[in-house]
Amino acid sequence: MCGIVGIVGSRPVAPLIVDALKRLEYRGYDSAGVATLEDGKLDRRRAEGKLVNLEERLKGNPLAGNIGIGHTRWATHGAPVEVNAHPHFSGNVAVVHNGIIENFRELRNELQSEGFEFTSQTDTEVIAHLVAKYLKTGATPVQAAHSSLKRLRGAFALAIMFASDEDLIVAGRNGPPLAIGHGEDEMYLGSDAVALAPFTNKITYLEDGDWATISKSEMQIFDLDGKHVDRAQQTSVGSALMVDKGNHRHFMIKEIYEQPEVIGHTLANYVDFNEDKIALRDMGNQENPLDFAKLDRLNITACGTAYLAGYVSKYWFERYARLPVDIDVASEFRYREVPMPQKGLSLFISQSGETADTLAGLKYCEEAGQHLAAIVNVRESTIARSSHSVFPTLAGPEIGVASTKAFTCQLSVLAALAVGAGVQRGHIDRETEIKLVSELSEAPRYANEVLKLENEIKELAHSLANKEHVLYLGRDTNYPLAMEGALKLKELSYIHAEAYAAGELKHGPIALIDEQMPVVVIAPYDRIFEKTVSNMQEVAARGGKIILITDKRGAEEVGMDEAQIILMPDMPEIITPIIYSLPIQILAYHTAVHMGTDVDQPRNLAKSVTVE
Ligand code: G6P
Repeated sequence: MCGIVGIVGSRPVAPLIVDALKRLEYRGYDSAGVATLEDGKLDRRRAEGKLVNLEERLKGNPLAGNIGIGHTRWATHGAPVEVNAHPHFSGNVAVVHNGIIENFRELRNELQSEGFEFTSQTDTEVIAHLVAKYLKTGATPVQAAHSSLKRLRGAFALAIMFASDEDLIVAGRNGPPLAIGHGEDEMYLGSDAVALAPFTNKITYLEDGDWATISKSEMQIFDLDGKHVDRAQQTSVGSALMVDKGNHRHFMIKEIYEQPEVIGHTLANYVDFNEDKIALRDMGNQENPLDFAKLDRLNITACGTAYLAGYVSKYWFERYARLPVDIDVASEFRYREVPMPQKGLSLFISQSGETADTLAGLKYCEEAGQHLAAIVNVRESTIARSSHSVFPTLAGPEIGVASTKAFTCQLSVLAALAVGAGVQRGHIDRETEIKLVSELSEAPRYANEVLKLENEIKELAHSLANKEHVLYLGRDTNYPLAMEGALKLKELSYIHAEAYAAGELKHGPIALIDEQMPVVVIAPYDRIFEKTVSNMQEVAARGGKIILITDKRGAEEVGMDEAQIILMPDMPEIITPIIYSLPIQILAYHTAVHMGTDVDQPRNLAKSVTVE
């Protein structure tokens, strides 16, 4: 899931490549590098760590050249050190690569036995040597690249540059995305259109199995057999504005504060507030509209936070639409050989729309003849482009690696879909639809109100900082929300956090409770509140420190002096998962800030995961 950039132009490209890489840093930030070509000589600068380190290095030792490739890395093979940073060279060949070459061992053995010397632990280096090997046999650069691509197995996107040709980059895609940008006497290559947004909005996406030759005046795309293929040029809607933090300290808190607005935008796309009805705007292929009435089951697949949004919606679809839901993490789903119902509906949730496991799940369902529906934040993403029905979230670019506004926007779409499904299936009458629509319309206002609790939550966060373990409990939709709370805390603060369905506490995790164990309980007052209170009593009796997120009624009913309470406004049940997400995000954020971790780019993570 690294980020790739290439530029063939008529001006020095190294600063432009670094600029584009900055927009791709969400894909990985273990190391970065740029290679350019001038007067027939390849040269490169690489640096461990974030892009600023590479920028510093380039300041002291700039690179000339009007053609170049660049890379920002999320380590798969080999430690995140400079020797493993891309671009990788072999003689007159330079390569940047995103993904995993599955047969790299076999290729490395072959190449080593032929005398090629490896200087890194990466799988990428085999590509450079493979191309160099074919060049030695007399192949042209394009032939050598083509022969090499045919030998690679795995999911990858790559760019190759040759010392012998100042007007050629070869790109190849099998899995992770690659976009070609068209400029004036300049052509670009990037892992996404946003990376290229400062240069052009004219984009051609490579499809799986495509490879392309790119010069400053044209590009040609081929399939693996070497036959020309046509791919349409599109106008990208990616923003050319470099997203910045405004006056916030981190992107994450900025994105938390954007939620009232983006939840409102997103809901407005799926709810007709004038007519008080759900109006599911499907941005996919209109010839094949989605019909919930005909379904027996719904299958949902996603990863990480998106999976947890799907998990919340299982309760909604089952409650409001009487539609049974199977939900899986994509990495399990894709290999489980799940029998799919005839003409079933498979829903994929993904902020980036590029997550490799989710995409593999989608392919499986495509082969099983399912109607494919996607909830994505990036409309031009592979998952969106591969789906029959597309329901975008309108969260805007999310830069913080820990997902916040994308999650609540996913929940907003899912709430609308579940109510819409209930209407289509005849389980929600007109009166109930009007009531639910009006309740949904209140979500932005409640989100705003809850943001005012930041200072209070910050103080509680300080009591979590430096704890070794934290437990999260919830029932019903608050169970997946508890999982999201634990995920946020562990990814940001590196504190070990786990979530349990509150009723499961007595079946094991209760053994962990002692005076050192903070327990975050998410429990708005609802029909099963009493049950959760009993579980809290069990924690309190064993000295556990409770942080209870509840409303006024809940606080009154619980009557526990020992609990610290985050007091939420009373609100309609359907929006509680959306609004209760905010205190758990703020709690995790301030715990991490207090502990001094890298909030926007936590260690070992990446925003978009395009490898298995
Ligand atoms: C990564 C990110 C998570 C995200 C998950 C799924 O692990 O760090 O925040 O939830 O990928 O990403 P997607 O783009 O498919 O929603």
